[in-house]
Amino acid sequence: MSSEQPIQSPGNQFTPNNPLPQEAKVPDEIAKFSPQVIAEMDAHLAKYPVQRSAILPLMFIVQRERGGYLDPPGVAFLADKLGVRITDIWEVATFYSMINTEPVGKYHLQICRTLSCKILGADKITEHCTQRLGIKPGETTEDSMFSLSEVECLGSCGTAPMMQIGFDYHENLTTEKIDEIIENCRGGRMSNGVR
Ligand code: FES
Repeated sequence: MSSEQPIQSPGNQFTPNNPLPQEAKVPDEIAKFSPQVIAEMDAHLAKYPVQRSAILPLMFIVQRERGGYLDPPGVAFLADKLGVRITDIWEVATFYSMINTEPVGKYHLQICRTLSCKILGADKITEHCTQRLGIKPGETTEDSMFSLSEVECLGSCGTAPMMQIGFDYHENLTTEKIDEIIENCRGGRMSNGVR
Protein backbone atom coordinates (compact mmCIF):
# COMPACT_ATOMS: atom_id res chain seq x y z
CA MET A 1 0.00 0.00 0.00
CA SER A 2 1.22 3.49 -0.76
CA SER A 3 1.89 5.70 2.21
CA GLU A 4 0.82 8.71 0.15
CA GLN A 5 -2.69 7.59 -0.68
CA PRO A 6 -5.19 9.91 1.00
CA ILE A 7 -8.22 8.40 2.64
CA GLN A 8 -11.37 9.71 4.19
CA SER A 9 -10.73 11.26 7.56
CA PRO A 10 -11.83 9.12 10.45
CA GLY A 11 -14.14 10.70 12.96
CA ASN A 12 -13.33 10.55 16.59
CA GLN A 13 -15.78 8.58 18.67
CA PHE A 14 -14.03 9.23 21.92
CA THR A 15 -13.89 13.02 21.58
CA PRO A 16 -16.59 13.66 19.00
CA ASN A 17 -16.23 17.43 19.04
CA ASN A 18 -12.46 17.54 18.74
CA PRO A 19 -10.23 17.52 15.67
CA LEU A 20 -8.99 14.23 14.31
CA PRO A 21 -6.50 12.47 16.57
CA GLN A 22 -4.29 11.19 13.81
CA GLU A 23 -3.31 11.66 10.21
CA ALA A 24 -5.89 10.10 7.91
CA LYS A 25 -3.42 8.28 5.69
CA VAL A 26 -2.90 4.70 4.79
CA PRO A 27 -0.36 3.68 7.44
CA ASP A 28 3.06 2.34 6.51
CA GLU A 29 2.80 -0.37 9.13
CA ILE A 30 0.35 -3.25 9.33
CA ALA A 31 -0.26 -4.71 12.77
CA LYS A 32 0.87 -8.26 13.49
CA PHE A 33 -0.86 -10.73 15.79
CA SER A 34 -0.01 -14.05 17.38
CA PRO A 35 -1.20 -17.32 15.81
CA GLN A 36 -3.68 -17.66 18.68
CA VAL A 37 -5.22 -14.29 17.97
CA ILE A 38 -5.36 -14.99 14.24
CA ALA A 39 -7.11 -18.28 15.02
CA GLU A 40 -9.61 -16.39 17.16
CA MET A 41 -10.30 -14.05 14.24
CA ASP A 42 -10.59 -16.93 11.79
CA ALA A 43 -13.16 -18.60 14.05
CA HIS A 44 -15.33 -15.50 13.71
CA LEU A 45 -14.75 -15.28 9.97
CA ALA A 46 -15.93 -18.87 9.58
CA LYS A 47 -19.37 -17.86 10.86
CA TYR A 48 -20.04 -15.49 8.00
CA PRO A 49 -20.53 -16.26 4.29
CA VAL A 50 -19.43 -12.70 3.52
CA GLN A 51 -16.10 -11.97 5.21
CA ARG A 52 -16.68 -8.27 5.78
CA SER A 53 -19.67 -9.15 7.96
CA ALA A 54 -17.16 -10.14 10.64
CA ILE A 55 -15.91 -6.57 10.88
CA LEU A 56 -17.21 -5.85 14.38
CA PRO A 57 -15.97 -8.99 16.18
CA LEU A 58 -12.59 -8.54 14.52
CA MET A 59 -12.52 -4.89 15.52
CA PHE A 60 -13.06 -5.84 19.14
CA ILE A 61 -10.14 -8.25 18.96
CA VAL A 62 -7.83 -5.71 17.32
CA GLN A 63 -8.89 -3.07 19.83
CA ARG A 64 -8.15 -5.42 22.71
CA GLU A 65 -4.78 -6.45 21.29
CA ARG A 66 -3.66 -2.94 20.32
CA GLY A 67 -3.97 -1.38 23.74
CA GLY A 68 -7.65 -0.50 23.79
CA TYR A 69 -8.13 1.35 20.53
CA LEU A 70 -7.95 0.96 16.77
CA ASP A 71 -4.62 2.42 15.76
CA PRO A 72 -3.73 2.95 12.08
CA PRO A 73 -1.66 -0.29 11.83
CA GLY A 74 -4.59 -2.18 13.33
CA VAL A 75 -6.98 -0.59 10.86
CA ALA A 76 -4.63 -1.49 7.98
CA PHE A 77 -4.59 -5.09 9.20
CA LEU A 78 -8.38 -5.23 9.31
CA ALA A 79 -8.73 -3.80 5.81
CA ASP A 80 -6.28 -6.37 4.52
CA LYS A 81 -7.83 -9.26 6.44
CA LEU A 82 -11.39 -8.44 5.39
CA GLY A 83 -10.57 -7.36 1.86
CA VAL A 84 -12.12 -3.92 2.25
CA ARG A 85 -10.87 -0.35 1.98
CA ILE A 86 -9.30 1.51 4.87
CA THR A 87 -12.23 3.92 4.64
CA ASP A 88 -14.67 1.05 5.16
CA ILE A 89 -12.98 0.28 8.47
CA TRP A 90 -13.03 3.90 9.63
CA GLU A 91 -16.68 4.29 8.63
CA VAL A 92 -17.67 1.49 10.98
CA ALA A 93 -15.17 2.37 13.71
CA THR A 94 -16.41 5.93 13.98
CA PHE A 95 -20.08 4.92 14.09
CA TYR A 96 -19.95 2.75 17.21
CA SER A 97 -19.12 4.27 20.57
CA MET A 98 -17.66 0.98 21.81
CA ILE A 99 -14.89 1.24 19.24
CA ASN A 100 -12.18 3.69 20.25
CA THR A 101 -10.16 5.55 17.64
CA GLU A 102 -7.66 6.97 20.08
CA PRO A 103 -6.12 5.70 23.32
CA VAL A 104 -8.37 5.43 26.36
CA GLY A 105 -7.67 4.73 29.99
CA LYS A 106 -7.68 1.29 31.55
CA TYR A 107 -11.23 1.92 32.77
CA HIS A 108 -13.41 3.57 30.15
CA LEU A 109 -16.58 4.84 31.83
CA GLN A 110 -19.24 5.27 29.14
CA ILE A 111 -22.33 6.88 30.62
CA CYS A 112 -25.61 6.62 28.75
CA ARG A 113 -27.10 10.06 28.10
CA THR A 114 -30.28 9.03 26.26
CA LEU A 115 -33.85 9.65 27.42
CA SER A 116 -34.46 7.16 30.24
CA CYS A 117 -31.01 7.67 31.71
CA LYS A 118 -31.25 11.42 31.22
CA ILE A 119 -34.58 11.63 33.04
CA LEU A 120 -33.31 9.47 35.88
CA GLY A 121 -30.12 11.42 36.55
CA ALA A 122 -27.43 10.71 33.96
CA ASP A 123 -26.29 14.34 34.08
CA LYS A 124 -25.78 14.11 37.83
CA ILE A 125 -23.82 10.88 37.39
CA THR A 126 -21.62 12.43 34.71
CA GLU A 127 -21.04 15.53 36.82
CA HIS A 128 -20.12 13.37 39.80
CA CYS A 129 -17.63 11.38 37.71
CA THR A 130 -16.19 14.63 36.40
CA GLN A 131 -15.62 15.87 39.92
CA ARG A 132 -14.25 12.59 41.24
CA LEU A 133 -11.89 11.99 38.34
CA GLY A 134 -10.98 15.56 37.43
CA ILE A 135 -11.77 14.99 33.76
CA LYS A 136 -14.63 15.91 31.46
CA PRO A 137 -16.33 13.58 28.94
CA GLY A 138 -13.86 12.93 26.15
CA GLU A 139 -10.83 13.11 28.45
CA THR A 140 -8.47 10.65 30.13
CA THR A 141 -6.80 11.01 33.50
CA GLU A 142 -3.07 11.74 33.47
CA ASP A 143 -2.28 8.33 34.89
CA SER A 144 -4.25 6.69 32.02
CA MET A 145 -6.42 4.93 34.57
CA PHE A 146 -9.80 6.42 33.59
CA SER A 147 -11.51 7.79 30.51
CA LEU A 148 -14.97 9.30 30.57
CA SER A 149 -17.51 9.37 27.73
CA GLU A 150 -21.18 10.04 27.21
CA VAL A 151 -22.84 7.60 24.81
CA GLU A 152 -26.26 6.93 23.34
CA CYS A 153 -28.74 4.32 24.60
CA LEU A 154 -27.06 1.08 25.63
CA GLY A 155 -30.29 -0.89 25.64
CA SER A 156 -30.62 -1.11 29.39
CA CYS A 157 -33.23 1.62 29.83
CA GLY A 158 -35.10 -0.33 32.54
CA THR A 159 -32.11 0.00 34.87
CA ALA A 160 -31.37 3.66 34.19
CA PRO A 161 -29.21 5.51 34.86
CA MET A 162 -26.46 3.22 33.72
CA MET A 163 -23.04 3.05 32.15
CA GLN A 164 -20.73 0.47 30.70
CA ILE A 165 -17.08 -0.19 31.44
CA GLY A 166 -15.78 -2.30 28.62
CA PHE A 167 -18.47 -4.95 28.09
CA ASP A 168 -19.73 -4.76 31.69
CA TYR A 169 -22.91 -2.90 32.57
CA HIS A 170 -23.27 -0.94 35.80
CA GLU A 171 -26.91 -0.14 36.42
CA ASN A 172 -29.27 1.79 38.69
CA LEU A 173 -26.39 4.17 39.31
CA THR A 174 -26.21 6.56 42.22
CA THR A 175 -23.37 8.84 43.24
CA GLU A 176 -22.60 6.39 46.04
CA LYS A 177 -22.34 3.54 43.53
CA ILE A 178 -20.04 5.62 41.37
CA ASP A 179 -17.78 6.24 44.37
CA GLU A 180 -17.69 2.53 45.08
CA ILE A 181 -16.92 1.67 41.45
CA ILE A 182 -14.12 4.21 41.24
CA GLU A 183 -12.59 2.98 44.48
CA ASN A 184 -12.79 -0.61 43.29
CA CYS A 185 -11.10 0.36 40.03
CA ARG A 186 -8.34 2.19 41.86
CA GLY A 187 -7.89 -0.73 44.18
CA GLY A 188 -7.65 -3.22 41.32
CA ARG A 189 -10.78 -4.99 42.53
CA MET A 190 -12.79 -4.50 39.36
CA SER A 191 -12.54 -5.83 35.84
CA ASN A 192 -12.22 -3.24 33.10
CA GLY A 193 -14.74 -5.27 31.12
CA VAL A 194 -12.38 -5.92 28.21
CA ARG A 195 -12.52 -9.44 26.78
S1 FES B 1 -31.68 5.32 27.75
FE1 FES B 1 -29.91 4.67 28.85
S2 FES B 1 -29.81 2.55 28.42
FE2 FES B 1 -31.46 3.25 27.19
